[in-house]
Amino acid sequence: MTRKGIILAGGSGTRLYPITLGLSKQLLPLYDKPMIYYPLSVLMLANIREIAVITTPEDQDQFIRTLGDGSQWGISLTYIVQPRPEGLAQAYLLAEDFLDGAPSAMVLGDNVFFGHGLPELLAEAGAEASGGTVFGYHVADPERYGVIDFDANERARAIVEKPAVPPSNYAVTGLYFLDGEAPDRARGIQPSARGELEITTLLEGYLADGALRVKRMGRGYAWLDTGTHGSLLDAANFVRTLQVRQGLQTGSPDEIAFSHGWIDKSALRDRAKLFTKNDYGAYLLSLAEG
Ligand code: DAU
Repeated sequence: MTRKGIILAGGSGTRLYPITLGLSKQLLPLYDKPMIYYPLSVLMLANIREIAVITTPEDQDQFIRTLGDGSQWGISLTYIVQPRPEGLAQAYLLAEDFLDGAPSAMVLGDNVFFGHGLPELLAEAGAEASGGTVFGYHVADPERYGVIDFDANERARAIVEKPAVPPSNYAVTGLYFLDGEAPDRARGIQPSARGELEITTLLEGYLADGALRVKRMGRGYAWLDTGTHGSLLDAANFVRTLQVRQGLQTGSPDEIAFSHGWIDKSALRDRAKLFTKNDYGAYLLSLAEG
């Protein structure tokens, strides 16, 4: 079965108040594009064309206005509401009908990845027929994340959510490749002490069955944090620095759709016409003319 995508873009965004009092975090600008363009691009790089976007009830309209039905990129976007932020693993219950037994790749709507070889890494994970794949990334502040506990042979033996004493510096990134069993398994887990269906509990189930691959995402990759005002600005500056230096876009669904042959030159030109007043539009136009 073809792998489907999920972007989890709900949550209350309280850490970014007052900005997110009236606006979804995942629609905030990351330099020149809405934040959600970046995780969406990751799924598209993984060759996924059927994607569900999970949002709060209040914010759904804004996401639909921003992303539409996906046809401008040759993909299909479905919108699902999460009534309350009851945990990351709940996404698999909400998306069960959409997935219809298919394996999935879920990405958090505020996770930004960049790195040489990312498409290959994604293709490898996407090619696994059963079980799951997650990525461990070395961070300075692991206590803020799900953290991997490795045994003496460097094999993952546990994943702990926000541990006071982190067992390693390897955080689990917000990108989860799981097989078609994920909704069933999610149904079997209990809410944590903070009342959430934790993704780490779901992953531990796979791990206990020997069905979870934990791959390291090396130092050649950037996994950027957008969780605080400062890190959001840093992430935007990172994108700007790269794009200005290279003259190339990062996190552009338009470019990926075109390079994958999902849209043709005339469709790309139509998109560029929407943005004639800025560099993004000029960039798309140059791709279409090239
Ligand atoms: O970013 C990776 C980390 O994401 C992982 O290492 C952790 O294991 C995982 O629990 C998660 O930690 P966070 O502290 O970042 O989780 P947070 O509650 O901030 O939610 C992450 C994103 O998902 C955020 O943009 C809001 C959204 N969300 C969250 C919850 C709990 C939802 O859409 N619905 C929810 O119910």
